[in-house]
Amino acid sequence: MNENEIRSRLTTKVLGQKVHIYETLDSTNTRAKMLALENAPEGTVVVAEEQTAGHGRFERLWCSEKGRNLTFSVILKPKLPRNRIGMLSIAAGLAVAKAITETTGRRAETKWPNDVLLNHKKVCGVLSESIIRDENIAAAVVGIGVNVNQLVFPQELTDSATSLLLETGRSLDRTQVFGNVLGQLEYWYNRINSGIFDEMLEEWHGLSMMMGKTITLDQQGKLITGVARRIAGDGGLILQSDGKEMKILSGDVTVIRD
Ligand code: BTN
Repeated sequence: MNENEIRSRLTTKVLGQKVHIYETLDSTNTRAKMLALENAPEGTVVVAEEQTAGHGRFERLWCSEKGRNLTFSVILKPKLPRNRIGMLSIAAGLAVAKAITETTGRRAETKWPNDVLLNHKKVCGVLSESIIRDENIAAAVVGIGVNVNQLVFPQELTDSATSLLLETGRSLDRTQVFGNVLGQLEYWYNRINSGIFDEMLEEWHGLSMMMGKTITLDQQGKLITGVARRIAGDGGLILQSDGKEMKILSGDVTVIRD
């Protein structure tokens, strides 16, 4: 991907106005956090064709074949109170799900906290990290990995990971997907930055593969089973378990019953 191709696909006013493109980088999130600390403008995007230390939640590795997918991070300066930071991951997941549908015509699903699924398999992961100064969010980095044209995944991921190419049979223009994701992200980001959360949560719930279902939540080995009820205003998951509602802030979800 080069800057001219990317520029021709952008419909945004702020996101992607400055793009740093790298052939190889350790992690776009790590680079974007450094740029944010150096006061890079809001909307700056770091893109890498290949990451050597791309990571997800709980320091898990993010594996992505060079030149076939999208791995990028966006620097944001949200006007959100600190306790609303989880809304950024929700906005990013929704943005990717909608952009996939826009590009492929296929219905993508959201999965709490930060995944997007196609045909029940993970096609995108989001990792949001923030820089806190004086108890406020000075900047946030939203890292997004979308499997676009990858055909083969490591054996341990073949049942759980997929790509747009594998699901649609079509090789896609990565810059088109990128432009659509940034367009969607800017829209939802502007909504939440204006304090409007309900519309986004409603859309997210509408695309969710887990609401109203019985799920098991794995919190690094501690398992909780219950019914997924809704996403709270801070991005937490409201789970009904043993007749009580509780808010969950992190963990991995497996749907066990409809
Ligand atoms: C997850 O599934 O836990 C989140 C995965 C996030 C991966 C993306 S790829 C671009 C950005 N840079 C990283 O190191 N991670 C995110």
